[in-house]
Amino acid sequence: MNNIKIAPTVLHPVIPNNSYVYIETYGCQMNVNDSEVVVSILRNHGYGYTEKADEADIILINTCSIRDNAEQRIWGRLREFAAYKKQKPSLIIGVIGCMAERLKEQLIEKDKLVDIVVGPDGYRSLPELVKNAESGQKGVNVLLSREETYAEISPVRLDKNGVTAFVSIMRGCNNMCSYCVVPYTRGAERSRDSHTIIEEIKELMAQGYKEVTLLGQNVNSYFHKDENLNFAQLMKKVAELSPELRVRFATSHPKDLSDELIDVMAAYPNICKSIHLPAQSGSTRMLQLMNRKYTREWYLERIGAIKKRIPGCSISTDIIAGFCTETEEDHQQTLSLMREVGYEFAYMFKYSERPNTKAARTMQDDVDDETKTRRLTEIINLQNTLSLESNKRDVGKTFQVLVEGVSKRNPEELFGRTSHNKVVVFPRQSFKPGDYADITIESCSSATLIGK
Ligand code: 5AD
Ligand code: SF4
Repeated sequence: MNNIKIAPTVLHPVIPNNSYVYIETYGCQMNVNDSEVVVSILRNHGYGYTEKADEADIILINTCSIRDNAEQRIWGRLREFAAYKKQKPSLIIGVIGCMAERLKEQLIEKDKLVDIVVGPDGYRSLPELVKNAESGQKGVNVLLSREETYAEISPVRLDKNGVTAFVSIMRGCNNMCSYCVVPYTRGAERSRDSHTIIEEIKELMAQGYKEVTLLGQNVNSYFHKDENLNFAQLMKKVAELSPELRVRFATSHPKDLSDELIDVMAAYPNICKSIHLPAQSGSTRMLQLMNRKYTREWYLERIGAIKKRIPGCSISTDIIAGFCTETEEDHQQTLSLMREVGYEFAYMFKYSERPNTKAARTMQDDVDDETKTRRLTEIINLQNTLSLESNKRDVGKTFQVLVEGVSKRNPEELFGRTSHNKVVVFPRQSFKPGDYADITIESCSSATLIGK
């Protein structure tokens, strides 16, 4: 989910003011969706969209602060754009997203390159800031909002496979995990009203989309006060739109994984049987230091509840290696948790201290880098084994696959996903993107199922 860089694929023809924007996205899927909102906002003000940075009049970088290496990559990219600006002094460069709030002074003052800095809640002000920048005035808006959900803005789908789409349903995060910068960069939790969510999904269905992923930093704590509507109830509404529409969601916090949600998932065949439920660590001592609000036992109880009510449900996780004071024993607990759950998939990271978080303020980043790397490698190796074992269990079985597109490696093959979120590659035959195909699995690697 992290450090995704999207390659925009469509060129929009409407260019009344003859200025083109190019946008490059880093970080999570929420950021990818935010870029689509940004393009929509600018488009409504007459700006065209280009997929080529060297043709753009405005270059925006939608940034991520989650780990130091994410930020370093983006600084590097900004230096590359300096070369463009030398050749074309009228070029406007904007930094938007999570780094904006954290690094506004540095971006605007020290780094003379940047004209506009806008945080995740300020995108509606972009047209005005771009206009000011066109007359040479630099602009910053990093105010966080308690209300902004961009509810009625219809995102321009940039990563256009025409089959699967992401729909943001809530923003921000109240959890205050001690290692995490997100509550500071994206602000407090707020949920979007269900009417605009349903409208957006209906619009997607009318365009032929077959799968939606409901998105939020903490998606299952969705709660709309005025409608008295929780996440399980929203999922039900979405699932009932059409049995042909697949529904997924990301990312869940274990503390909000209710029995009600598990029951809704079990009841609707079109809700995909896969849950991303980041554990972060298998050691209760670490979980407490991380302020995760659950213990190892409590997490395993939730996993048990999922497996009981949704047999075969695929479970994935995020793991952090080498958080403050982590001992060898804590690390072994993480490995044993991974084995006990038998994750299908995991995103795995070395702990990276983020300025101003609770961990940075009150704890010592005292696990040396060599140890972090070694532990991370052990975690990755174990996950590869678990993924391969899980995939081997699927060989010989038949799954309904939603076809997403042509395989990159072989134009004679298509790829798609099972309900369990596993990628399947299979011969093209007469299928096309958007079809549901029943595919029997013949072999596998740790990352892919191969079928016919
Ligand atoms: N260092 C390393 N990984 C982190 N994550 C969040 N903050 C940090 C950090 N400071 C990971 C968590 C989270 C995922 C999106 O990124 O695992 O679930
Ligand atoms: Fe990165 Fe987190 Fe911001 Fe997403 S919310 S872009 S992962 S810092």
